[in-house]
Amino acid sequence: MMRRKAVLILCAVVVLTAGYIVFQQYKGRVYSWYADTYITRVTPYPASAHPDQICLTWANDPRTSQAVQWRTDVSVMDGWVAFREKEGAEEQASVVEARASRIEDRMLENDPVVHRFTAYLEGLLPGTTYLYRVGSREKDIWSEWSEFRTAPDGAEPFEFFYLGDPQIGLDFWGELLRSAYVRHPDAAFHVIAGDLVNKGSYRNEWDVFFAGAQGVFDRTPIVPTPGNHDYDKRETPGMYLDMFALPQNGSKNIPPELSYSFEYGNAFFVSLDSNRSPGAQAEWLEKQLADSRATWKFVTYHHPAFSPKANRDNPEIRRHWTPLFERYGVDMALEGHDHAYMRTFPMKDGKRADTPGEGTVHVVSVSGTKYYALEPRDCAEVAFANTSTYQVIAITTNPDRLTYRAYDKDGVILDELVIQK
Ligand SMILES: [Fe+2]
Repeated sequence: MMRRKAVLILCAVVVLTAGYIVFQQYKGRVYSWYADTYITRVTPYPASAHPDQICLTWANDPRTSQAVQWRTDVSVMDGWVAFREKEGAEEQASVVEARASRIEDRMLENDPVVHRFTAYLEGLLPGTTYLYRVGSREKDIWSEWSEFRTAPDGAEPFEFFYLGDPQIGLDFWGELLRSAYVRHPDAAFHVIAGDLVNKGSYRNEWDVFFAGAQGVFDRTPIVPTPGNHDYDKRETPGMYLDMFALPQNGSKNIPPELSYSFEYGNAFFVSLDSNRSPGAQAEWLEKQLADSRATWKFVTYHHPAFSPKANRDNPEIRRHWTPLFERYGVDMALEGHDHAYMRTFPMKDGKRADTPGEGTVHVVSVSGTKYYALEPRDCAEVAFANTSTYQVIAITTNPDRLTYRAYDKDGVILDELVIQK
C-alpha cells in the first residue's frame, strides 16, 4: 500500500514537473536558460589585434564632440584616437586615449573575451570634417584613416536615416545599410529604433551586426534606442550599453544612456526606453520638449504607440507620451518592434488630425527580415507588409521643409511625406 502511494506521488511530481517545463518552454524561458547555460556558440568574426567594429556615437554635443568605439582581441591593452581637421595641416594631429573594457561571452567557443575601447573627442569645431584613425601605440597597429563631420552651429539643411528593427537577417540588413549609405553618403546619422540584434547578450550577433555596418558606422554615427531583444530578458541591456557611448542626460528614473536627448541643426531628438515605465520617463520627456526651441522635433523608442495590429498598440505610451508629443509639437515618432511598415496620419487625441502641424506622425518600420502580418487600421495612411526599408528624412531651411521617404533595399521609393512649416 505504502509502495503504491509512493509511486503515485512520484508520478504526480513527474507530471507536474513536466507540465511546468512545457509551460516555461511555451513562454520561451527554458530554451533561453538552457541555451545561455549549455550551448556553445561560434562567432564568424573573431577579434584580432587589428581594430574593427569602429563605430561613431555622440555622448555629448554633436557640434563639438564625437565618441569613437572599436574592438580588439585581448592582446591589445591600450587604445588611442589620432585625429585632425581634414583641411588642416598634418602636424596638427591630436591624440586622445581611450578607455578599455572587457566584453565577455563565455559560451563563445572561439573568442569569448574581447576588449572594447571608447574615446571621447571634445572641443571640436562645428560643421567641420575630421580625419581620424584608431589603434594601439604599444603595438603600433592602426586602422585606416576614416572621417566624420561635426554638426553645424545653427540651422542648415541636413538629412538622416531612420531604420526599424535589424534583429534577424543581419547579413541582408548589412546590404541594405550599405546600399542606403551609398545612395545618401552625406546623411548625418542613423536613428535605429531598437532590436539591433535578436539575442542582446550573444556577442556573436553583435559581431554580425557590426560586420554589416563596416564602412558605414565609422563615418556616420548611430543613434540607437533599446529594444526588448537588446534587453534579452535581462534587467538591463548590458551588451548594448557596452557597445554604444551615449548621452547621460536622460531621465533620472531609469539607468543612464537608456533615454537621452540631443540637438542637431534646427532639430531636436529624444530617445526613450519603451521597455521601461513610460510614466517614469514622462516628466523628463515633458521638460525636454518644453525647453526645446528647435524647429523640428523627433522622438524614437521601440514599442509603437499605434501598431500595424490593433491588439499590439501600447496604451501606456498612448497615455503618458503621445499627449506630450502633441502638446509640444513633435513632428514624427520613429518606432519599431512590429515588423511591418506603417505610417500614420498626423495623430491627435488618438484620432486623425487635419494637418501635420496639429498632430504627430508615427512610423513603424523594419530593416531586417523578420516580418509580421498587418491589419487595416484607421490611423494608417500607408501600410505594407513583408518589406524591409530604410527611411531618409531631409530637412531644408528657407523654407523649413521636411521630406520623408521610405525606400526598399534597391532605392525604390515606397512612401513619401512632406511637412512644411
Ligand atoms: Fe521588439
